[in-house]
Amino acid sequence: MLEDTSFAIHPGAEQQRNTAVYHDIGNVKYQEKGNDSFHFICENGQVAIRFYTEAIVRITMNPKGEPSWGQSRSVVAEAKKVDVEEDGTAEVYELKTTELHLSISKTPFRIRIYDRQGRELVTEAEQGMAWQENGEVAVFKQMHENDHFYGFGEKAGFLDKRGEMYEMWNTDVYAPHNPETDPLYESIPYFMTLRDGKAHGIFFDNTFRSWFDMRSFAERYAYRAEGGQLDYYVMAGPEPKHVLEQYTYLTGRMPLPPKWAIGYHQSRYSYQTEEEVREVAQHFIDRDIPLDVLHLDIHYMNGYRVFTFDEGRFPNPEKLVRDLREMGIRVVPIVDPGVKKDPEYPTYQEGVTGDLFCKYLEGDIYFGDVWPGTSAFPDFTEEKARKWWGEKHRFYTEIGVEGIWNDMNEPAVFNETKTMDVQVMHRNDGSPATHRELHNLYGMLMGKATYEGLKDQLDGKRPFLLTRAGFAGIQRYAAVWTGDNRSFWEHLQMSLPMVMNLGLSGISFTGPDVGGFAHHSNGELLTRWTQVGAFTPFFRNHSAIGFLYQEPWRFGEKYEAVIKEYIEMRYRWMPQLYSLFAKASSQGLPVMRPLFMEFPEDEKTYNLNDQFMIGDNVIIAPILAPSVVDRAVYLPEGEWVEASSGVAYQGENTYLIHAELEDLPLFIKKGTAVAQTDWTSNKDKSWKRVRMDIYAGDQGEDYRFTFYDDDGETFAYQHGSYLELEVEVVSTEEAVKVDIVDRRGDYVPAYQQIDIHVIGRKDGQDVILNGEKENGDSYLSLTD
Ligand code: GLC
Repeated sequence: MLEDTSFAIHPGAEQQRNTAVYHDIGNVKYQEKGNDSFHFICENGQVAIRFYTEAIVRITMNPKGEPSWGQSRSVVAEAKKVDVEEDGTAEVYELKTTELHLSISKTPFRIRIYDRQGRELVTEAEQGMAWQENGEVAVFKQMHENDHFYGFGEKAGFLDKRGEMYEMWNTDVYAPHNPETDPLYESIPYFMTLRDGKAHGIFFDNTFRSWFDMRSFAERYAYRAEGGQLDYYVMAGPEPKHVLEQYTYLTGRMPLPPKWAIGYHQSRYSYQTEEEVREVAQHFIDRDIPLDVLHLDIHYMNGYRVFTFDEGRFPNPEKLVRDLREMGIRVVPIVDPGVKKDPEYPTYQEGVTGDLFCKYLEGDIYFGDVWPGTSAFPDFTEEKARKWWGEKHRFYTEIGVEGIWNDMNEPAVFNETKTMDVQVMHRNDGSPATHRELHNLYGMLMGKATYEGLKDQLDGKRPFLLTRAGFAGIQRYAAVWTGDNRSFWEHLQMSLPMVMNLGLSGISFTGPDVGGFAHHSNGELLTRWTQVGAFTPFFRNHSAIGFLYQEPWRFGEKYEAVIKEYIEMRYRWMPQLYSLFAKASSQGLPVMRPLFMEFPEDEKTYNLNDQFMIGDNVIIAPILAPSVVDRAVYLPEGEWVEASSGVAYQGENTYLIHAELEDLPLFIKKGTAVAQTDWTSNKDKSWKRVRMDIYAGDQGEDYRFTFYDDDGETFAYQHGSYLELEVEVVSTEEAVKVDIVDRRGDYVPAYQQIDIHVIGRKDGQDVILNGEKENGDSYLSLTD
């Protein structure tokens, strides 16, 4: 407890400076060439290098022996055949692909990586790769004056991580998330460096506790891990978007979620009875507030036993799920990994008799305390346990459940260390390893077990999975929410850079608990937060036990009306959002983006925390403080139209924008397009009409937009059943020309046309649609 007082900074308690002694890898003794790899045997360790593509290179260093290519749980890509040009002198060895140039000096071993324009990407100088006697591996790279750092998964604080140090160790943090609170629930040991408008990336594929240090040295940054090999990938960029494509090429992309999962979710810890759940659902129907999902938190279970319902409080879950489904609402129950130690509980019995729980090397099951009391934890590192766990979900899918919420999967344990004993020995599909090594993978492998189980059981339908913990690659299985935030304005503010950095870390489908989880929300905060939530990829209102309820109507009519308006707006924007989800799924590009992603040359965007973009042409600048109705908005290059007022603003300027409680400052770039539909009803959320709003420009703007749609619920899209329209918009003084330049896929939606609506046309400016002159309001037929 004393640590929470000034005693913590008692002069005598000053922490020892890190006096670690690093062994430098030393000089190259000799080098060898493998089939598709290059090996350097140095005085103090061995290095192997392999190109994955022309733009991605993997570098591994093992202090004790030959580097192993290992069995990564994150990387799903195989190394491609890459032509590598070799060259060099006795001192320096050169490896070149069409995109990368590695210059390796041998005394001592140092790597300098350039692109083929000679631009320096990643450089080692006085320090390079190193290790310590205790097993730690580290690497030091030069840091440039103009370097800005992004990514690192789920981190508190500002967008640009220069000057920060981060730890990767999945941790349950209920204490208030401060700018310095680290680590949190997800570990994504990956970052992007932006230097003078160009970007490159590094993925450190090491699951041990690790650190990224952009703080301790003026001219160097470092990353290090408690054990394992130094194993990292350098991605050449050169644009931020390329880095994302390269990183998600390695670690995989999100399968398209079902459309319903992109809608509005309502949750509470907990709606405690069937009647309460029905009542909440009925409120949404009666008030005509859009709702796609109601979450069931831990109280639905019998004594917090997963795969059970409390028969007193939830006597007929099947009917509940069915009735809600008829109202247009899905039910998503929570599933935690801890299985209650109870000899009369079948899931526990199966886990013990089937040898499926995490154990010590000596054979004893590991027990820890979580919600159900003493619990055992499935060993998700083992295929047998994953299959079993996946199968267990029939309990839910058989009553019509199509989505699951995984929580406490760091795993969280109520003890001093907050997690499982690091000495537990996981079976790890035949390569046993301790929890110390695999801790960070636990949540992701639970996600894999759950997602794959659901997929098997849903008869071709897309499952939805939400997770709290994860590691690099989690996007292949789950959406991520940012855990236990609070109903603080500061947490609304912090959620923007946090969600943007998650998006920059390959995880597009994310969002915070809208309204704040712990502490008491209020009408104004919930309204402003819902305005943001309407545009975060994952949109769920969730609140904790013991605090005020915060469903849209809880703070009175004035707030309810505005909250409803913004939840509806989410649904009106659905075609645009879904098209962006499709891009995230096919290319790894985030739905919600920091401005620098589109304007990497514009320094004003490098640490812009209170604005974000949806796709490449929409800027949202929400109000993030109480009583505020005016805010500064920075608009980058181009001309921008405020959607609500129609007022146009010249970019590369900052404006004071007025926004009453009912207003969300939202700007669309002139010369571009957004796709919209109408909100109809909870019962039938299918898009009856789709409209493309074209914002007329006159500066010769040339814009490409990919409109995407499919059935929204099956995997048929993976076999050609989708509609993809490549729309080209060219705006000049004389005309706004809209052309469908390509149509792909064979899906035919129920709406038979796309209405085209040109906004902000000047006198004398013609509208030309597919070569024909129109009056500004026309449509594009999808049937001829
Ligand atoms: C954890 C989760 C929270 C959930 C609660 C009860 O705190 O982060 O979302 O409501 O557990 O299950």
